[in-house]
Amino acid sequence: MAIKTVLRMGEPLLLQQAQPVTAFNTPELHALIEDMQDTMQAMDGAGIAAPQIGVSLQVVIFGVGANPRYPDAELVPYTVLINPTLNFIGDEIEEDWEGCLSVPGMRGVVPRYTRLHYTGFDQFGNSIDRLVSGFHARVVQHECDHLQGILYPMRITDLSQFGFTDVLFAGQNIVDD
Ligand code: NI
Repeated sequence: MAIKTVLRMGEPLLLQQAQPVTAFNTPELHALIEDMQDTMQAMDGAGIAAPQIGVSLQVVIFGVGANPRYPDAELVPYTVLINPTLNFIGDEIEEDWEGCLSVPGMRGVVPRYTRLHYTGFDQFGNSIDRLVSGFHARVVQHECDHLQGILYPMRITDLSQFGFTDVLFAGQNIVDD
C-alpha cells in the first residue's frame, strides 16, 4: 500500500481517544493495516498505532525482530491488535528507555507495569489473549497508550531522563528516529 506521514507530537489527533473497530476482515481494515506495516517498516519502528498515521481507530501493530533501534531487546512476535483491553498483573513496575515515531530524535525513561494480560482481536476478528512481561508488555502499553491519546513523554516521571537520542547515547551507535 503506502508509507504514510507519521503525525508528530503537537498534533491534536494524537491526543484523542480512538474509536473501536466495528467490522473485521474488510478491505478498509486490511488497507489500514498494510499502510501501518509499510510505515512502521520504513521507519524501523517496534510498533505503530493507527492514530499516528491520522486514523483515530483502536488498531495497533507491533513486533520486534532484530532491530537496530533496540539492540538488546527481547523479540516480540509480530502482532495486529484491535480493540485492546489491558489488565496489569501485580504492581511491579520497571523503568526503561522508550522512543516513539511521533517524537522523533528523542528518548526517555518510562515506568511501565512488568506483567500484563491483554486481549483483543486480529484483523480477521480472531481473539487474542496473552500474558506477557518485560519488553513485550512495555511495547503493548506504549502502543495502546496511543489509543487513549497518551504519548510516552506524558508518562515520564523523571524529566532529567528525557533527551535527544544522539546526545544521550553519543557514540553508542543507536539509530536515530
Ligand atoms: Ni509511539
